[in-house]
Amino acid sequence: MSGYRFGLEFAGKADVLANLGASAPIDLELDPAASIAAEAGEHVFIEGDNLAVLERLRCAYEGRVSLVYLDPPYNTGNDFVYRDRFAAGHAEELRRSGQVDAEGHALVANPQSSGRYHSAWLAMMMPRLWLCRRLLRPDGLLMCSIDDHEVHHLRCLLDEIFGEDCFIAQIVVVTNRGGRDYLRIATGHEYILVYGASPEAPVGELDRPARSSGLTDALGSFELRELRNRNPKFHPGNRPNLAYPIYVAPQPDPHGLCPVELEPRPGFDVVVTPQNSEGRGSVWRWGPAKVRQALAEPVAPLVARQRRDGGWNIYEKYRKTTRKPRALWDEPEFRTESGTAELRRLLGAAVFDHPKPVALLRRCLELGCPPGGLVVDPFAGSGTTMQAVLEQNAADDGGRRCVCIQVPAPCPANSAAAAAGWDTLTAIARARVHAAWRETPGRSLRWFRTRAPVEAFAVPAETDGEAYWQRLVAYEDALARVPLDPHAVGLTHGIPLDAELRVDGPWWVLVDANGEGALAGWGVDGRGPSEVGPEVWPDVPPQTTVVLPDDVFEDLAEAATQRGLRVAGRRAARL
Ligand SMILES: C[S@@+](CC[C@H](N)C(=O)[O-])C[C@H]1O[C@@H](n2cnc3c(N)ncnc32)[C@H](O)[C@@H]1O
Repeated sequence: MSGYRFGLEFAGKADVLANLGASAPIDLELDPAASIAAEAGEHVFIEGDNLAVLERLRCAYEGRVSLVYLDPPYNTGNDFVYRDRFAAGHAEELRRSGQVDAEGHALVANPQSSGRYHSAWLAMMMPRLWLCRRLLRPDGLLMCSIDDHEVHHLRCLLDEIFGEDCFIAQIVVVTNRGGRDYLRIATGHEYILVYGASPEAPVGELDRPARSSGLTDALGSFELRELRNRNPKFHPGNRPNLAYPIYVAPQPDPHGLCPVELEPRPGFDVVVTPQNSEGRGSVWRWGPAKVRQALAEPVAPLVARQRRDGGWNIYEKYRKTTRKPRALWDEPEFRTESGTAELRRLLGAAVFDHPKPVALLRRCLELGCPPGGLVVDPFAGSGTTMQAVLEQNAADDGGRRCVCIQVPAPCPANSAAAAAGWDTLTAIARARVHAAWRETPGRSLRWFRTRAPVEAFAVPAETDGEAYWQRLVAYEDALARVPLDPHAVGLTHGIPLDAELRVDGPWWVLVDANGEGALAGWGVDGRGPSEVGPEVWPDVPPQTTVVLPDDVFEDLAEAATQRGLRVAGRRAARL
């Protein structure tokens, strides 16, 4: 059959593909009141539409993120989704027609009765997932919570964006033990889809509480694992190289364990071959070469113990302290009610619908964000991921960093949050993160708001005539004088938002935590560019790039170059 292509199609997909990477530019502005010890730089919360923010993050974060965790609206029919077409330049038109609010937010209801119910959701998700994919390190993971409404579509979409060979698991999380019994089959679970940025991306193992076997040797405690392969698929007929004798010296130690050898030796008189419980020939899990190597170690990892029936078993001393995660997560601390209770405890009321339990996010961190790693949560909601990072770091001193993004959408008029006096979802997130911080502090929190870039406000609407030129000159002039948020400039130059900030007179200097770059710029204390000649330049690391305003560029660029610094124009830094 020809003319059919396998894949997911939805209304608007062509538009999405044509506009990938082309959303409206935005800038970031630090909110000092919501930040904590902002100079140091560690965790970051950004209030804004995640599409524009993810795109803005690309220049500094591409290929640097260990884990992207997403908890998008599940498209239950009551959810609001973003309609992104405005991003390509129709903002004004949409504002006039009332499709976006005064701040440009275009969250629209997506009822099941809409003819584009699934398409609208997929069109919202696709560009965001595409950007998330780009932020991931090659060994990074994407984990996305979802339920039955969209899991099948989301999986097709992720197969398309990541490649089917990057699919790792569809985890089932039991969120409600009893299940929702108003459905014909009481459903009490949802999913987390896990994809690797590459087919080989590793998945972290979970701590395995030591079982008290009471067995110890010079290397510490251990458990016993039979060396015989219990899988009946393998037998001497198809694995003859794994069916060989092992020789035991029947001299038990206080634990009843006896030494073994691969070759016959004096004293090693008992010959053991692998046999199943019915006495039929079986095979070992290890080949002779691996056994020989193991027995050459100072503390032998293989031993034998006599059974009650007089026969002998050969054991591996098992010391693993981790276990593989399973695909069914049924722990009580993952139930939805735990998330609600945690938020109620921190804020005094259940002011956010279905926040994820902190323990669930900590489990995701264990799988995908090793110590020193960076996690990005583009649908941050009440900020559970930030709290989970704080707690996980406190538990293992892991130094993970976190970037959360959440749109400052108003709390719905008839919601418990609005009744309790909360105006926006980000106000709730901020209160939650601050409350969690008081219990488990991190080092630094930078809280950003987003706004259209200065250029976008100032760009003349007319396209010709004298008025246009006059406005253009005024705009250029204004542009050169607007103080820049160092972090926003740094981002454009590839410096992440957690870089350390030093302020030195009128200068700021950002130093990337990875030591990969430094950036200096003028304009934090309102002094004019002509007042900040080379004599008041800060002491900066070699290879620092200095961002110079246009009107002093020529004067200062040469001096900067002579000092071995790199020079960038200020406008270039913003565009
Ligand atoms: C299911 S909730 C996430 C809950 C979160 N995991 C928690 O534990 O609190 C999804 C969140 O994504 C936000 N959201 C939806 N579209 C967004 C967008 N385009 N940009 C940023 N946030 C968005 C919603 O406002 C909502 O708070």
